[in-house]
Amino acid sequence: MKGLLTLRTLSEDKILEIIETALEFKNGRKVDFPGKKMVTLFYENSTRTQYSFQVAMINLGITPLSFNLAGSSVNKGESLYDTVKTFESLGVDGVVIRHTQDVYYNDLENIKIPIFNGGDGTSDHPTQTLLDLMTIYEEFGHFDGLKICLVGDVRHSRVAHGNSEVMRRLGMEVFISGPEEYADFTAPYLTIDEAVEECDVINLLRVQFERHQQDMGITVEEYHKAYGLTMDRAKAMKDNAIIMHPAPFNRGVEIASEVAECDKARIFKQMTNGVFIRMAVISMVLEGKL
Ligand code: CP
Repeated sequence: MKGLLTLRTLSEDKILEIIETALEFKNGRKVDFPGKKMVTLFYENSTRTQYSFQVAMINLGITPLSFNLAGSSVNKGESLYDTVKTFESLGVDGVVIRHTQDVYYNDLENIKIPIFNGGDGTSDHPTQTLLDLMTIYEEFGHFDGLKICLVGDVRHSRVAHGNSEVMRRLGMEVFISGPEEYADFTAPYLTIDEAVEECDVINLLRVQFERHQQDMGITVEEYHKAYGLTMDRAKAMKDNAIIMHPAPFNRGVEIASEVAECDKARIFKQMTNGVFIRMAVISMVLEGKL
């Protein structure tokens, strides 16, 4: 299959090449793909991923098409494969897909047009990982030896699962923090107070209430006090340490409202970088470099 489905099968060199290409776009490089059109098929809600892919397409001269799930033939039972095959038949040049099912793309092996994974279940969110890496790279100029703590609802987070694998390969030390019942992969555990003292990057994760099978058992105020990034904790971070969050974020739960836009926060910069990463990924795929 063509496109970008996961970073797990990409070499470290190729990942760095995507980041360098995104930085070139951020510095003004122009590339144009006149006459191309791509569609965003989102089976789960999204603001950043869906619309930054569309902005990236517009910046590259590609016409973006939106898919209205509620008004589509998915509601008549049409499968993901038949939906994507339909867009391929209409002459669309690529599809961006977000789906509730982990590795949904295994059902799409006969599709010939490029597929860009906008998030699959709780497994992977490759362009989010890339924009997170770009933001870290811009800040520190390297990855080797940096300490990052993934803080919060690790179990339900495709960002945590994708980031931890790639960040380790790039030489970062990955820790986790948050409720221990939400910690589902092997990484050293730090309390949030230990994490802010030790780490270069605090990568907060949204509490994904919509994926919880049962109540957390504590109030959001109790969660914030025990696991959240309060302003006092943000002030305890190292001088050059940064705060990231894929967003959307729950103000007052995993992050204090005033922390979201404090000097150490890079959350809105991550969103800006997302446009350049998606420009890089789309252009490299269309040029046969990815
Ligand atoms: N970070 C992220 O994936 O945001 P959206 O769900 O709004 O796309």
